[in-house]
Amino acid sequence: MKQLTLIGFMGSGKSTTGQMLSKELGIPLLELDQMIEKEAKMSIPDIFDLKGEAYFRELETVVLTKALNSIGVIATGGGVLTNNKNVNQLKSIHNVIYLKGEASTLIERIKNDSINKRPLADTSTEIEITKRLENRVSQYEEVADIIIEIENKSISEITLEILNQLEEMK
Ligand code: S3P
Repeated sequence: MKQLTLIGFMGSGKSTTGQMLSKELGIPLLELDQMIEKEAKMSIPDIFDLKGEAYFRELETVVLTKALNSIGVIATGGGVLTNNKNVNQLKSIHNVIYLKGEASTLIERIKNDSINKRPLADTSTEIEITKRLENRVSQYEEVADIIIEIENKSISEITLEILNQLEEMK
């Protein structure tokens, strides 16, 4: 396995699952948010604050294209499908995995996450976050080759399920 891409809403565990998959598969983890911060030399909240979301989305497309030309487990940001170019790129490749969770679970995780600052969630109400999720679900499902339900599963269980499904698809 040379490349797989994790998509899903904020709080669905793309980065932590990506870490475990990268270890299991022996290929690098390509974390798009980290790549964006490196490219901009700024944190995600600062990019949103000082440059705006449109600039963030431009960088997201640049780093996604870079990542798709590399070997690795790609952990995308939850809003990667807001740009049509990204949607088309992800539709044209294989091994795109959607980590699907319930709104309540995702909101709980976002709230309890003191490490990752999320400009599009941290100051939003639960209703607004749920609406954003609802607007995105059909796109995640459309682009995904594999859908993994994350409810009540550990990261190891999710990783194993992904590896099994990829094996079956061969
Ligand atoms: C975003 C999700 C974040 C990050 C940015 C925007 C979004 O990534 O890219 O704050 O639009 O859903 P995570 O999904 O890793 O939190």
